[in-house]
Amino acid sequence: MSEMNEIQQIFVEKNNKAELGGGKDKIDKQHKDGKLTARERIDTLLDKGTFVEVDKFVVHQCTNFDMDKTKIEGDGIVGGYGKIEGRLVYLYAYDFTVFGGSLSRTNANKIVKLQSMALKMGAPIIAMNDSGGARIQEGVSSLAGYGDIFYQNTISSGVIPQISVILGPCAGGACYSPALTDFIFMVKEKSHMFVTGPDVVKTVTHEDVSKEELGGAFTHNSKSGVAHFLGENEEETLMMVRELLSFLPSNNVEDAPIMNTMDDISRENEVLNELIPEDPNKPYDIKELIDAVVDDNYFFEVMPYFAQNIVVGFARMGGKSVGIVANQPAYLAGVLDIDASDKAARFIRFCDCFNIPLITFEDVPGFLPGCTQEHNGIIRHGAKIVYAFVEATVPKITIITRKAYGGAYIVMSSKHTGCDINFAYPNAEIAVMGAAGAVNILYRKASAEEKAKALAEYNEKFSNPYRAAELGYIDEIILPQQTRVKIIQALDMAQTKIRSNPAKKHGNIPL
Ligand code: HXC
Repeated sequence: MSEMNEIQQIFVEKNNKAELGGGKDKIDKQHKDGKLTARERIDTLLDKGTFVEVDKFVVHQCTNFDMDKTKIEGDGIVGGYGKIEGRLVYLYAYDFTVFGGSLSRTNANKIVKLQSMALKMGAPIIAMNDSGGARIQEGVSSLAGYGDIFYQNTISSGVIPQISVILGPCAGGACYSPALTDFIFMVKEKSHMFVTGPDVVKTVTHEDVSKEELGGAFTHNSKSGVAHFLGENEEETLMMVRELLSFLPSNNVEDAPIMNTMDDISRENEVLNELIPEDPNKPYDIKELIDAVVDDNYFFEVMPYFAQNIVVGFARMGGKSVGIVANQPAYLAGVLDIDASDKAARFIRFCDCFNIPLITFEDVPGFLPGCTQEHNGIIRHGAKIVYAFVEATVPKITIITRKAYGGAYIVMSSKHTGCDINFAYPNAEIAVMGAAGAVNILYRKASAEEKAKALAEYNEKFSNPYRAAELGYIDEIILPQQTRVKIIQALDMAQTKIRSNPAKKHGNIPL
């Protein structure tokens, strides 16, 4: 064999070892557990044949506990760059077959290198987590590695989209890298996130809880609000990641890609005139309105299981990405509460970071009253929506579909808090509160007859959008059937919007 061939042979051997990770047995175990391997995940996520691997031959440097006898090419991370729908992304996947995907100093260095490259090239980065946490044998070196990853997560925030996909365990401080990213995907029954696992919980608080209940996909998608998307299985989850990216620009100085559509920009929909019940106490599903208005009736909802009284997500109007924020009258009457405020504010800020215009559909009876809400800080949390809408410099269009009462009218992207165009339907009610509530306060001691008269007067004066339109607080009253065309016209008008906030180090959003 010539010298060149021997060198090539070394390459082939190292390459094969890297491809096998922790070995065939561990790969079989991974499959038996119903999970894909790190490489299979990358192949599923990326456009076929586009993966370029970085640092395939690096090995850990640990000598404790005889670790120097077990060095695996690539260690516990498979990472690099590739394409999704032809656009550059960086990505890395924890390899559970190598020491349970635990984070060594070497793994952290690989991740930080990719995070730095993604930031420099202005491309999204996707992390696929499946890990036993800090590599125990490496002690503080591993912890330091987490710190370096968190640092990159934080300085990249608002510059490039960062996405985390939890595909196995993610415990302890390891949860904080996903938590610092923009979106977290989880897989039903396969992924778990918690700061402390069930055993520690039992010791400390004596609570008996399964890992699914403590930190499973449904828990974090519906209760804690930590996760944004839930997939049935890994393949579906990774397809959802691809779809999310289609709505996003690669970085904060680009616009999202434009998707050609056959959906007519002047399409009207007369069904919408009948969708909203005149009775302000009757529910309807705001998602029906959203679906009817956006391109190809397609709405990609974010956090669909959490705080369902507010709906947020992405769609396209005239081919361009928009972020939608909408009260949901079909759930808790669309009231604003702590969770709804947090959900909306974070979504608004994401859209503003990445130049995605905001469309707000408003039908809100107000903020939720009660000790639970007050004592848990509805004032502090509700302020986040105001702050996020005011601070956002992207085009902002609001449509009042029915109720716009009290403080909730102001905070849901009103003219006063900076929306560019505010539409209202003819049946909209813009008032300090609903008619019955107002009469009960003003005419507490009055007779039934006087109350009925006051109710009629209040309804005539306030339960409509005309007073606000007279004052210029509403730019235009439109028929529901015109919603699509009016929004697209407004977005077109606002696309040259010039607005920036005063220079500052950063604001102080109420957290
Ligand atoms: C080194 C680890 C490891 C770790 C797992 N392994 N976790 N090696 N460091 N943290 C190894 C196991 O020894 C085993 O090796 C292999 O990975 C697979 O693990 P199993 O336990 O056989 O798998 P499974 O039954 O699926 O259980 C997975 C698991 C469990 C739930 C993740 O392994 C586990 O509880 N690991 C410890 C988790 C933990 O406490 N991590 C530290 C958290 S503190 P062999 O050779 O037998 O196959 C932390 C601090 C971060 O992360 C702070 C950041 C600021």
